[in-house]
Amino acid sequence: MKYKFYILLFFVLSQHLYSQHSIIPIPVSYTSTDAVFIFDNQISLEIETNDSQTKQYVAQFRNFLSEIGVSLSDKPTEKSISVSLYKNDISELGDEGYSLEVTKNNINLSANKAAGIFNGIQTLKQLFPVEKTDSIAIAGCNIKDYPRFKWRGLMLDVSRHFFSVEEVKAYINQMSAYKLNVLHWHLTDDQGWRIEIKALPKLTEIGAWRVERHGRFGKSRTVPKPNEKATYGGFYTQEQIKDIVRYAQDRNVTIVPEIDIPGHSMAALAAYPELSVKKEPKYVAPGTKFSEWYGNGKFKMLIENTLNPTDEKVYDFVDKVFTEVAQLFPGNYIHMGGDEAYHGYWEENPKVQKFMKKHKIKDTHELQSYFVKRVKKIINSKGKKMIGWDEILDGGLADGATVMSWRGMKGGIAAAKMKHEVVMSPTTFAYLDYMQGDETVENKIYSSLSLEKSYTFEPVPADIDPKYILGGQGNLWTEAIPTMPYAFYMTYPRAFALVESVWSPAANKNWKNFIQRTQVHFDRFDASNINICKAVLDPIVHVYKENDILMCELKNSIPNSEIYYSIDNTYPVQFGVKYSIPFQIPEGDIKLRTQTFVDGKSIGRELIIDRTILVKRVGKKPFSF
Ligand code: ACM
Repeated sequence: MKYKFYILLFFVLSQHLYSQHSIIPIPVSYTSTDAVFIFDNQISLEIETNDSQTKQYVAQFRNFLSEIGVSLSDKPTEKSISVSLYKNDISELGDEGYSLEVTKNNINLSANKAAGIFNGIQTLKQLFPVEKTDSIAIAGCNIKDYPRFKWRGLMLDVSRHFFSVEEVKAYINQMSAYKLNVLHWHLTDDQGWRIEIKALPKLTEIGAWRVERHGRFGKSRTVPKPNEKATYGGFYTQEQIKDIVRYAQDRNVTIVPEIDIPGHSMAALAAYPELSVKKEPKYVAPGTKFSEWYGNGKFKMLIENTLNPTDEKVYDFVDKVFTEVAQLFPGNYIHMGGDEAYHGYWEENPKVQKFMKKHKIKDTHELQSYFVKRVKKIINSKGKKMIGWDEILDGGLADGATVMSWRGMKGGIAAAKMKHEVVMSPTTFAYLDYMQGDETVENKIYSSLSLEKSYTFEPVPADIDPKYILGGQGNLWTEAIPTMPYAFYMTYPRAFALVESVWSPAANKNWKNFIQRTQVHFDRFDASNINICKAVLDPIVHVYKENDILMCELKNSIPNSEIYYSIDNTYPVQFGVKYSIPFQIPEGDIKLRTQTFVDGKSIGRELIIDRTILVKRVGKKPFSF
């Protein structure tokens, strides 16, 4: 009998241990022991605190256990799961850290605060097997863990595409499982105003709806026809917002609402055109092209989408909006956008020019700064701190404003040097709308960002005092993301890379180890039927010319893998050539086929790329080369 038991145990553990060592983000310290905790139905749960938030988190864990078939005993038993708050704080653990010990008979989870218990539970859940099994055991360990930064964010744009309450909750639920604790909710933009403001009903009656168009944002989308009804979109009622805020709180997630002003305001101006300089009637943008981009951040808006910073009515509007926003969101911060505000209509308007002269405002950068400073006062008057995109530095940064650095790290560096708080969310590491793999197999958009590059994100630049860096954030702009399954595909696994940069000590990060752990999380997502991007398994194709000969170099990031290819239109690819060194691509009507294999099995996708496309890639380095 005992013999059989040990065989079973060995089998169970050999399956589970792999997942056990695959925690993302990697903890501060982790040691495994020889002990084994077996989940039978003889386990009691002891909660040694009256803290209601802790009890709520533990109740969620109880649900998780019951869903996988573990019921807890109400009577004292030999085995227990014990959850407690320290009577005297362990300062090292801070507000969100925890310690977790798994022995033969006990799982002990302790923290200073409820948030730490929540985070510890997320780790504990990752110790469970990926697949549902009859017998569950986890190996003994001692974990001490706490975050490097307090702002570990994801931004979700619900303006370019609207996501339902249930979808937003699903997004929050998933991020919280990885200890991401800030949802920056991009609620307004040119393509839709998504938050009910009771004092300004037209914002959602008009601003939340646009004419329905499909396909890519840009010139192939057509403007509204005369009298065409605006039927696509939606908004969140205040009751729905309160529900989402509560849902987030129950997952240790703070929501930072963004109202993007003075630019990106076409939906607001469709409702209240009098708030613009030209006061022309307009529609909510259905994804049509209405701007021209000249590189170097220079651009022109062909339709005015900017509030008039010289009009007192605009500040009344801003006050009304932030009064209600502040009441709905209990967090400390409100984001006022501030990015990509086009100044052309301000520059050409005599009334605006007169206002600037009167107030000794030298140029429109200073005018934007004047606007931002007034908005900041309004936000502060509601008891909140203001954060904005790094354009709020232009023309002079408002005292006490927090800067979200997106055009690289330089805005964040400048702000930190001025002793301002900073959140780093640079395009170079944190833009989750960028393609993750070869553009022949991804939905093509204007830029790429590989998982490997995201993993190199370091939020504290050299020579910057870390105390000014609140943390980092990945941004999911949704122009090309119309559904939640695709939002998950674009967010993960890069969010794993980002959270490891903002939770784990930099010294614990290791790409090879990360990529192995990531594969276990691929299995977790597969098991929960959420499709995330596995582009990291695909070969990376680099084409270049050597003595006028077209050459191809292949690589990938997967340990112990092999890459096979063919360049003679033959398939299947594993009967082609095993890649070892760069090879010539001959002339002719041919395609490159290539795929990654581990232990003779294909992983990832087969890339099939026409020679004509390869030729066009010469001189462009793919990411990770
Ligand atoms: C941004 O990406 N416009 C902040």
